[in-house]
Parts: sequence; structure tokens; C-alpha cells
Amino acid sequence: MTGDQPFRIGVLGSGKGSNFVSIVEACEADRVPAEVALVLSDVAEASILERAREHNIPARYLAAGSFRTKLDDEAERSYIDALRAASVDLIALAGFMRVLKGEFLRAFEGRIVNIHPSLLPSFPGLQAWKQALEYGVKVTGCTVHLVDAGVDSGPILGQSAVPVLNADTAETLHQRIQAAEHELYPRCIAALARGEVTVQGRRVVVGKAGQGQHQA
Ligand code: GAR
Repeated sequence: MTGDQPFRIGVLGSGKGSNFVSIVEACEADRVPAEVALVLSDVAEASILERAREHNIPARYLAAGSFRTKLDDEAERSYIDALRAASVDLIALAGFMRVLKGEFLRAFEGRIVNIHPSLLPSFPGLQAWKQALEYGVKVTGCTVHLVDAGVDSGPILGQSAVPVLNADTAETLHQRIQAAEHELYPRCIAALARGEVTVQGRRVVVGKAGQGQHQA
């Protein structure tokens, strides 16, 4: 956070927006010293846009262009322009199902975070909870990480473990992981907003100077 200016978050999502709601509610309750300035979605009918409007947050659909898994160059510029116009300090990906690349990463270097539904580096990519169930691991969870040019590969800010139960289906496991996400993501964003995060190569140290905390 700089001076008296509130720390401003731009959220990108493609789906129902439960992580967005957990972030905005934490901001409203002062558990995160920040405000959500803008929500953008590449899916016109995504619920995240409705959830944002319910919280009186500017929310826009921005077309992604001709590719299925990334933004095309024109779309990338429109996302960058919208986020710059909103003067965001941090971009939080909350179920944004496209890979961000080149110009976008350079425009907001070190200021993009993502939540992923597994304990990375296990199970990057799509439907990570299903991958974990099918692999047969006994513990999975969720990870908040900085975004780099790879897929779910950036330095890790925080993780929460979630047990896999005998009776789990993909759905019940994902629900339990999401409950953990809703607690972890606001906590990590609060640490960033308070300026308590130092990145040392791949290692992210969280905590006030001199305190030995290693994750948000
Ligand atoms: C979350 O579980 C998030 O971890 C996942 O999408 C879901 C979005 O839910 N993201 C990924 O799989 C990204 N690789 P939400 O729209 O309710 O927040």
C-alpha cells in the first residue's frame, strides 16, 4: 500500500466467481486492506460479473479474440488498457481460464497472482482436483502463486492442504478445496496489500521484517 491511496485489485475470472466473492467480502470486512477496482471476464454470461455488480464494482466482459486458451494480441491490449485505466496495483486471477503471455506479463510484472486447485507443482493445468483424485493422492489442496510465463509455475505465496476422503467424488473434493481457497486467497492478498511479501528468486518470504513466517 502506498501512502493514503487504497491498494487496488483488478480481478479476472471466467466462471462463477466464488473466489472473487471471498476477496471482496474480506476487503469489505477490512480483513484485506484493499479494494476491488474492476472485474473483467472473457465469458459474457459468467456469474462473476453479476456477483461484482451486486457489490457495486465495475464489471466488464472483454472478448478474448480468436484463440481458445489465450488472449489474442488485440484482446490482450484491451485487458491491459482497462486494468491500467483502473490504476490497479495487483491483478488477481480467480478462475480465469486463459494463459497470460508476453505483453500482459510485462505490463504488470510481479503484480499478478493466481489461485490453483492443487498443491503445486503437482497437477498443474485443468481440473486439478480431478487429476488428484484419479492419481490417488491422499492429500491435495490449493496454491496461491505469482504468475509467470509458464502454466501454474510461478513462485508460491501460500498453500493449504486438503485431505482426499475415501468417499470423495470430483465434485465433493472440489467443494472442499474451494472452501480452503476462500480462506487462503484473501490471506495472501492481504499480505501483498500490506507490503509483507518479498520475492527472492523462487522463494517468496511472507511476514514483517524479522518475523520468521514463510507463507501467507
Ligand atoms: C477455482 O477452484 C480455481 O482454483 C480454479 O477455478 C475455480 C474458479 O472458481 N482455477 C483454475 O483451475 C486455474 N487453473 P470460482 O469462479 O468460483 O472462483
